[in-house]
Amino acid sequence: MKLEKIYSPIKEELGRIEDELRSQLLSSKDKFILEVNRYLLGSAGKRLRPSLVLLSAKTNNHWDEKVIPVSVALELIHTASLVHDDVLDEADLRRKRTTMNTRWGNEPAVLTGDYLYFKAFSILSQLGVQKISSIVSFAAEMMCEGEIIQTCKTYKLNLSEEDYLEIIRKKTASLMAASCEVGAVLSESHPSVQKALANYGLNFGMAFQIIDDCLDLVSPPDKMGKSTYKDFAQGKMTLPLIYLVRRLTKEDGKRINDLFHKDREEIITLLREYEVVGQSWQRAKEYLDRAKEKLKVLENSQAKEALSLLSDYLLESLAARVEKYQIASVPNSSQSGLSYRGNA
Ligand code: IPE
Ligand code: IPE
Ligand code: MG
Ligand code: MG
Repeated sequence: MKLEKIYSPIKEELGRIEDELRSQLLSSKDKFILEVNRYLLGSAGKRLRPSLVLLSAKTNNHWDEKVIPVSVALELIHTASLVHDDVLDEADLRRKRTTMNTRWGNEPAVLTGDYLYFKAFSILSQLGVQKISSIVSFAAEMMCEGEIIQTCKTYKLNLSEEDYLEIIRKKTASLMAASCEVGAVLSESHPSVQKALANYGLNFGMAFQIIDDCLDLVSPPDKMGKSTYKDFAQGKMTLPLIYLVRRLTKEDGKRINDLFHKDREEIITLLREYEVVGQSWQRAKEYLDRAKEKLKVLENSQAKEALSLLSDYLLESLAARVEKYQIASVPNSSQSGLSYRGNA
């Protein structure tokens, strides 16, 4: 399944979001800012957060034009987080291009990230919808919190699964939850639907980051369009590694001492031997099942169907890769997951 096909109910609106992004990013008179922003516009990414806003909004039959600028703001916040993340990860490839930090250096990259954040909040403040501003600000605050906690916990071999889940809920899932929630709020959905969509986004976001973390370990950069193996290189304990440490501790404690000194081949061999990517994938699948379950309260619509397909797309992206590299076998389905407010 292609993303383009899943996005077909929002094709026209996504085009308008591109136009608006362009106009926002090309509004400065400064030559350097224009050069950097043109570069950013040159390579788009999947536009997942705007798509979550649009699809959530379209599950209800009430269109509010503010959906467009709000989607733009969310994409700018996400892009800002990537620009900063690449500085922290010392990554050199993003969206198939050289990262800002590698091309212009860390200082311009950090400042550009700041610029994008404030541009986003300036768009939101001009709209003057307090509820939307507060949902997005809270998510952005959570995102930063997640990144900070993660940075403080690098090289911690005893990082628990719970700690990891808290980090990814904050750094990734909260923005996806907010994207769905603002779409639902703007389209004046029933509060129960707003909650269900926020929970869809949260569970989707959890699965998204677990899968991304698996792909970081097993994918070559050219397949991802971004630097991979960076989490490991920066000492980030992601779910497959947490499961690996757990297994090794039980069997032979000595083998974990030099985990972060092992080379990529050795790690891949261990991941394969202990089937921990399959185990993580199973966890991601549980979140996706839960995300889909949240959609059940919604009336049927093309947008609802697209949200469900988006979950399948995510799982397929990992399935294709792990099977190709024979890292894991396809796990069975299961249920479980998170609830938005309950765990936030
Ligand atoms: C990457 O997000 C950062 C994570 C949360 C793992 P995306 O995969 O949505 O990035 P783009 O926007 O498509 O480049
Ligand atoms: C970053 O997570 C998530 C953010 C919220 C910025 P990753 O470090 O896994 O993102 P990628 O893999 O570099 O895109
Ligand atoms: Mg990264
Ligand atoms: Mg990653």
